Amino acid sequence: MTPTALIFDLDGVITDTAEYHYQAWQRLADEEGLPFDRAANENCRGISRRESLLVVLGGRPATEEQMQTMMARKQGYYEESLDQIGPDDLLPGVAGLLDALDAAGIPYALASASKNARPVCERLGIAGRLAALADGYSVERQKPHPDLFRFAAAGLGVAAANCLVVEDAAAGVEAALAAGMPALALGPADRFGGLLADGRVTRRDDLRDVTLDELAAAAAFDPGWHVVQSGFDPATQHHMETIFTLGNGAFATRGTFEEGYPGESALTLAHGVWDDMPIVFTELVNLPNWLRLTITIDGDDFRLDQGRVLDFQRYTDLRAGVLRRAVLWQAPNGKTVDLHFERFIAYPRRHVAAIRLLVTAVSHPCAVVVRAAIDGHVANQDLLHLNLEEQGKSGDTVWLRARTRHTQRALAVAAALSAETSADNGTERAADLCAGQPALLATADLKPGQTLQLDKLVAITTDRDPPAGHAPATGEAPASWPAPWPK
Ligand code: BG6
Ligand code: MG
Repeated sequence: MTPTALIFDLDGVITDTAEYHYQAWQRLADEEGLPFDRAANENCRGISRRESLLVVLGGRPATEEQMQTMMARKQGYYEESLDQIGPDDLLPGVAGLLDALDAAGIPYALASASKNARPVCERLGIAGRLAALADGYSVERQKPHPDLFRFAAAGLGVAAANCLVVEDAAAGVEAALAAGMPALALGPADRFGGLLADGRVTRRDDLRDVTLDELAAAAAFDPGWHVVQSGFDPATQHHMETIFTLGNGAFATRGTFEEGYPGESALTLAHGVWDDMPIVFTELVNLPNWLRLTITIDGDDFRLDQGRVLDFQRYTDLRAGVLRRAVLWQAPNGKTVDLHFERFIAYPRRHVAAIRLLVTAVSHPCAVVVRAAIDGHVANQDLLHLNLEEQGKSGDTVWLRARTRHTQRALAVAAALSAETSADNGTERAADLCAGQPALLATADLKPGQTLQLDKLVAITTDRDPPAGHAPATGEAPASWPAPWPK
């Protein structure tokens, strides 16, 4: 799969300003008598000026005023080196690659945490060739948060999932993965540690002699570890829900969409939680649907049977046990958003599951409302097995208790929601205790390029679990459960 677009980091990828940043920090550290060297500087790679200063300070206390002064001094030292930068300072391989991308009609953007990124690109003579530029002024949350790369993709007008990120920093590779993008990591393997085990990361020493075929390979899924669906086809929906089931041996959930889909078969089954009906057969009980996220974009509910699906990708990363889905969607009201979902059911903590959602405004500013619910109105093909007994809210968590109608098994589902945004005005939070569907809400007003990030953390327990205080140690199944894998 050839990437639709590339997003380049600047310092250490396009030009060697990473060295100038290091020298400026070293000068400041020497003047301040702070222990700092090249090895410590590795921790500054890719992160913001303020975060870098915290690394340089190494825990030494400083007032906000002192920090501002030190950042200004470092900036002054850095600016001294900027005068030396010119078109000859592109790192080896960069000029050839940009020419090849131009010739192939593949657009590229720059996404750097640096507030100096624009003047540096101008000095290098590449500013006019960039389809978008995201810098230290573009978003609040810097790498390793996904916001800067999502901002760049929105600027390109390309589905985030179709952008390949080129990075020299571990924090940048982490940010790319968090943004739902594959990454080409440049530099020694030990710089990236465990990130290289991710099937979406490819490493090279630098961009020398890189080919478009290599970029295509870096953007491709790993056929050994990724179960992939590219493009949305309603005709295969039921089948795909089965394929994208996740489970941990204690409970499992079919791969239905968080927002729902007409005719879907949403199903969560827990080991041993069955109901016995005199009129039919004994069966495992469909538990409350913990996936539910209702996402409203300026009044239009996100759903794939409405509006326009401009891009759709879904894959399970078998190595990590994570299901991801990326959708570029135009609402009936004409506004385009880029959504990225990640879901897992924890293996070491058998009661826990989580969903992360990123919503990025692409074409217009929009008000986004997300309702994260526990949906107790579930059945096994119209057969009700659950009596909903009680629901409520404690702190930032909503919960629902239920009992199977005939076997009288008790169970409870709880959900907590955290929300962060790159929008300057933050998010608003609320709860909605609608009967049988308790929910937490988060609202944000996003400008184009801004991202709302939501984490929904869920716990499911049943009376088959050990009593409180006898919880199994992390990674162990309780004695009453059979071994998760056949021996
Ligand atoms: C990143 C560099 O690109 O930009 C970091 O890798 C640097 O080392 C950061 O701290 C912020 O740069 P600036 O120019 O805003 O101080
Ligand atoms: Mg860099």
